Amino acid sequence: MPVLWAGRLTEKPEGEAFAFQASLAVDRRLAQEDIAGSRAHAAMLGERGIIPAETARDLDRELARIAGELEAGTLAIDPGAEDIHSFIEGVLTERLGDPGRMVHAGRSRNDQVALDFRLYLKRAIPELGAELSETMKALLDQAEKYAGAVMPGYTHLQRAQPVTAGYYLSAWCAALDRDRGRFADALTRLDECPLGAGALAGSGLPLDREATAKALGFRGPTLNAMDSVADRDFALETASACAITAVHLSRFCEDLILWASEEFRFIRLADSWSTGSSIMPQKKNPDFAELIRGKAGRTAGNLVTLLTLLKGLPYAYDKDLQEDKESLFDSLDTVRSCLRMFRGMTASMVFNTEAMEAACVGGFLEATDAAEYLVRKGLPFRRAHEAAALVVRDCIRAGQRSIGERSLPELKVRSELFEADLYQALSPAACVAARNLPGGPAPEEVRRQIRVLRERLALG
Ligand code: ARG
Repeated sequence: MPVLWAGRLTEKPEGEAFAFQASLAVDRRLAQEDIAGSRAHAAMLGERGIIPAETARDLDRELARIAGELEAGTLAIDPGAEDIHSFIEGVLTERLGDPGRMVHAGRSRNDQVALDFRLYLKRAIPELGAELSETMKALLDQAEKYAGAVMPGYTHLQRAQPVTAGYYLSAWCAALDRDRGRFADALTRLDECPLGAGALAGSGLPLDREATAKALGFRGPTLNAMDSVADRDFALETASACAITAVHLSRFCEDLILWASEEFRFIRLADSWSTGSSIMPQKKNPDFAELIRGKAGRTAGNLVTLLTLLKGLPYAYDKDLQEDKESLFDSLDTVRSCLRMFRGMTASMVFNTEAMEAACVGGFLEATDAAEYLVRKGLPFRRAHEAAALVVRDCIRAGQRSIGERSLPELKVRSELFEADLYQALSPAACVAARNLPGGPAPEEVRRQIRVLRERLALG
């Protein structure tokens, strides 16, 4: 297949050198977008009288045919082509002759690749958004199921205050909802069509940029041609949204890995979402959670790759930009598969409510509630904090595992304000129920949070 730029050079890079500068292996996944862009461009060229109307029709028909053949697998992409743009134009020319040679009027591969990339993201980002939404739905179902299942909440990985498993899960749904927002924002900003920007400076031909933008489903054409071919902000924003989502899943998985351990026994992962050991017969390993945790690394790496690629890059287009797609495609693929695996794994996991409830006892998770009990009776918080801390010390010295194990006279040594009604306020369930402010872990408040998140999902 001849290269598109054969005229100027007497020789072209051969073998390994040609392969080094080629991008087909990566950009072949833009084939359908490239064809869609060419069809819109050819139609516009015909409308504008830049090419004969009949040629425009021929181009459209042949491009549609090529799209169908690629889809059906009856046309193989020539691995020797330089990139997907060259390949499609090459096939057109092979089949149509001169009409094929007319399609690139007023266009450069620089605006073409920027267009293809944006078109691809206009499809891929909503698909990823749908995976995020499905994942949230599955988590919210679990959150609802476990809205009353008390468990220790942690700070510094030390038991802090009783919460519920449903509260924990809805916390992560709030984070995933922000991820949805980040992808949606990226999509809004990238929704401008670079076609017609040419190499960097537009074209003297009477192109209709509004028409091609509209035909391709964009809000409108990009404002400045030079910016259009140089800009990869949309790749950075999408890679960033991917990396943040992956980091969320990674943190979540770290908790699940801990909780699946014999030390915690808070959750049981389904056998089908676990693996065994080739040597230790007893093992059940949370490999899926570990891999999701690990894969966050490559999404962070891809973001850094893109930032580094762009740093100091002279305006406008440079071939360096060809390196952009591999990183972003990898981030999109990685986050998509992580979300799907994460969803299957978490939808089938079972919380061990007994072990979680038992873990709420012994670590004095009720101490904050004891202090708040005293505040409610008028004691300044700092004094209440101290009194509760001293009660905890008394308990530890006496070998008691919770404040409720102390008698009222023993408690009164630390504050006269303690009364018998304290005891009922200290059970894990009571501590959780008392924290019913907006954002709190009380079961009915968590159910409200779940409703809000479901409403947001319904809005799209
Ligand atoms: N394969 C190239 C890319 O991905 C297409 C643009 C090439 N443009 C050029 N002037 N060499 O960026």
